[in-house]
Amino acid sequence: MKTFSIYRWNPDDGKPPRQQEYEIDLNECGPMILDALIKIKNEMDPTLTFRRSCREGICGSCSMNINGTNTLACLCKITEPSAKTAIYPLPHMYVLKDLVPDMSNFYEQHKSVRPYLVTKEGADKSVENHQTKQDRAKLDGLYECVLCACCTTSCPSYWWNADKYLGPAVLLQSYRWLADSRDAKTEERLEFLDDAFKVYRCHTIMNCSKTCPKHLNPGKAIAEIKLQMSH
Ligand code: SF4
Ligand code: SF4
Ligand code: FES
Repeated sequence: MKTFSIYRWNPDDGKPPRQQEYEIDLNECGPMILDALIKIKNEMDPTLTFRRSCREGICGSCSMNINGTNTLACLCKITEPSAKTAIYPLPHMYVLKDLVPDMSNFYEQHKSVRPYLVTKEGADKSVENHQTKQDRAKLDGLYECVLCACCTTSCPSYWWNADKYLGPAVLLQSYRWLADSRDAKTEERLEFLDDAFKVYRCHTIMNCSKTCPKHLNPGKAIAEIKLQMSH
């Protein structure tokens, strides 16, 4: 048997947040934390609320704080039964219910960096838009981001300035388009980022790169943005 201590809060019952413990027989459960959460919800407590979809690290929706680390529950193995596992929502976010944070500000920030290809005015859109193998390779380590916000919510600069600082995930996404040889808006993108808060609140603490469950390096992407801005 293994104990899971899970953060519970329901905005409708008027009670303060609490930790609730559930015991699970690991012989009857899949290997990942998400398997345990689904088992609890299906068999023990249907009121437990969390996000999930793909269960294979692609949709980015099951991000949460597990034993002190922000990660994706579907990629996080259940550890040995002797140790209790503590599960919280992503830190420093408003909580909607249980393990579900309010991602509205994060998504607004994502939208603000125009996270899509913008080609030259008048470009012929009826033909393929090629790039060299070398240029395509520049997107490796960027395009794989699943927007789980594990990095952003582990960043102390973001905790204190979430209204103005864009945070590592959104900056990595912004750099993904700055690094794309087919995009025609490099100057405008850099101009948009060039203020005291949007990028420069990053103090290279690197929590973001340590925590990314997809093994990406948003701290490096931010450094690349700063380099492009200085030219
Ligand atoms: S490197 Fe920058 S973005 Fe990453 S955790 Fe540190 S301050 Fe935040
Ligand atoms: S960089 Fe990594 S941790 Fe950050 S949002 Fe993308 S996948 Fe998640
Ligand atoms: S369920 Fe999709 S990333 Fe975990």
